Amino acid sequence: MDRNLALNLVRVTEAAALNSARYLGRGDKNLADDAAVTGMRKMFDTLSIDGVVVIGEGEMDEAPMLYIGEQIGKATPDSIKLDIAVDPLDGTNAVAKGLANAISVVAVAPRGCMLHAPDMYMNKIAVGPKAKGKVNLDMPIEEILKNLSEALNKNISDITVTMLDRPRHEHIIKEVRRLGARIKLFQDGDVAAAIATCFDDSGVDILLGIGGAPEGVLAAAALKCLGGEFQGRLHPMTDEERERCKLMGHEDVDRLLTMEDLVKGNEVIFAATGITDGELLKGVTYYGNSMAKTYSVVMRCETGTIRFIEAIHRLDKKPEYAK
Ligand code: FBP
Repeated sequence: MDRNLALNLVRVTEAAALNSARYLGRGDKNLADDAAVTGMRKMFDTLSIDGVVVIGEGEMDEAPMLYIGEQIGKATPDSIKLDIAVDPLDGTNAVAKGLANAISVVAVAPRGCMLHAPDMYMNKIAVGPKAKGKVNLDMPIEEILKNLSEALNKNISDITVTMLDRPRHEHIIKEVRRLGARIKLFQDGDVAAAIATCFDDSGVDILLGIGGAPEGVLAAAALKCLGGEFQGRLHPMTDEERERCKLMGHEDVDRLLTMEDLVKGNEVIFAATGITDGELLKGVTYYGNSMAKTYSVVMRCETGTIRFIEAIHRLDKKPEYAK
């Protein structure tokens, strides 16, 4: 895959972040999300790719832009055919309330390589490269922590488990506390939290718990590039959701989804830009003289290169972000 696409994908997430960051703390998550979607969609229109959205803002009748199945880019006969997974704003509430961890994300892979995940919950586990192959979603938490302790050469009491702060995770929290490990709860944004497990200085070693299934595919793309491990299992809450899984081709709804099931092969590129401050990326910051700074990361699975990109934007030259 054309490696220069990586920088263009950063432009895409930067555009979403710059548009959405204007709504920080305004108390309206829909406005923040719409702004991110519009910014991302416009930038995608400038790229010479033949993309189709496989993870997006919902079905065609639910979302005006970046809906599942939407064609993306200015395709020419030579354009690469891509699957595109987007979350223009992961952490809508975080932007609305001015809280941490909101990012804009995109992942691409050759056509047919990304799982079409239904819009429902997924049970997840994510760890960094040192623990790859040592833990899985079906292990009891005690075994997971024991194996992680060996893989990281850390006492269980030094391991930090991160998960969304939700009542549905009470049983995990109770068990992790019983075993003596540390816990870091977060309010929103489990893509960023999964990625954090791959960085030694992030302060978190493993992500557990239930979050969105589309976010699971995005996290799997990122962890593939980072050499970590991600596994998921769809978590339908109703018979209707179970039926929807089957309609989308997930015959065995309870199947463990490996990273390879979620994103096939190694021609994967993942990019993210911070909207609000998080462990991985700082959020958009505004300076005097109409300047804004964005902090992004872009990774290519083929080479394993991870680039952190700090960009200064002259808003007087980009009036669409000056608002
Ligand atoms: P949104 O940006 O769509 O609000 O998603 C934020 C998020 O925290 C995701 O990162 C996570 O996967 C999901 O919500 C968890 O869902 P819920 O808020 O229903 O627990």
